[in-house]
Amino acid sequence: MSVEPIRVVDGRVMLLDQTLLPGEERWFECIGPGDVEVAIRTMRVRGAPLIGVTAAYGVALAARSLAGGSGEFLDGIGRVAARLAATRPTAVNLFWAIDRMKREASAVAQLPKQERAARLFAEAEAIREEDVRMCRDIGMHGAALLADGETVMTHCNAGALATAGYGSALGVFRAAVEQGKRVKVLARETRPLLQGARLTAWELSRDGVDVTVIPDGAAAWLMRTGRVDRVIVGADRIASNGDTANKIGTYDLAIIAREHGVPFHVAAPYSTVDFSLADGSDIPIEERGMEEVTRLGSHLLAPEGVAARNPAFDVTPARYITSIVTQAGIALPPYADSLSLLCRGR
Ligand code: MRU
Repeated sequence: MSVEPIRVVDGRVMLLDQTLLPGEERWFECIGPGDVEVAIRTMRVRGAPLIGVTAAYGVALAARSLAGGSGEFLDGIGRVAARLAATRPTAVNLFWAIDRMKREASAVAQLPKQERAARLFAEAEAIREEDVRMCRDIGMHGAALLADGETVMTHCNAGALATAGYGSALGVFRAAVEQGKRVKVLARETRPLLQGARLTAWELSRDGVDVTVIPDGAAAWLMRTGRVDRVIVGADRIASNGDTANKIGTYDLAIIAREHGVPFHVAAPYSTVDFSLADGSDIPIEERGMEEVTRLGSHLLAPEGVAARNPAFDVTPARYITSIVTQAGIALPPYADSLSLLCRGR
């Protein structure tokens, strides 16, 4: 059973604080939407699908305290939704989940206060449960790509900790292992926040999956001198043509994989596909604080006062992507056709 990073306990939304892993397992309690906003912004929760699920609960928490008639209620929901939407710009799942919650809010706005809050909690719960189901389906489809004994490289954390449970890219490894295949995972550490070393290694080793952490810069050399059968990563936003935004470093990993003839796959649910974008050029890329690059906690990694850049994501052009694994099956190039075909009727 993979870790569940979000739980509702006695009406409070509890988040496993990912900034403290792997050293400490502490839960961050959210009583109101402001707590959810802080949790997403400070990356106590992170990972595209989980950000969406958490924001959905943020809207539900807001409904509890919003009094008044339907107009007043919807205005309040709109204000909270706007604040949650401003937390992180790249993962489209955030906006997808908030829009879905706003639609539900409109549908229940006429109901008494307690009833409409209960309906919004039920909707957030449905989004959470769907996410776990989608990850299991992604895992099942993706596992078919893996032969017994493969070594697979991944980047960042697209696991149970980035979703409501099970994971997208890491869900593929879990499903393969459940099918009895032996899989070795090479986890790139993922500077600057080390999601690969801290989170991917934590959740896979805890579940008994064979995982080895490597420095980001070791990928090319290991592909050249060792055996790497494929790369599988998650995604924060996929444009209609398959261009894929994911954690910074994914783009160079894709180029390295192409150079060495290693297949490069993206695993993601439909909620990560943004059909409003023809290609990746308009995907907003979050730029985070310099201190994430120049410091490790209180430890100085670069001279005081030296500038740093910290783009948190990059966009991998579709031409580097061998396939995109979704919950409905595997999309192959050209993605403009295959993604819309797989996602039709969702
Ligand atoms: O900045 P983060 O940690 O939220 O970035 C997460 C990633 O880039 C993941 O790879 C992506 O969200 C896929 S999660 C299934």
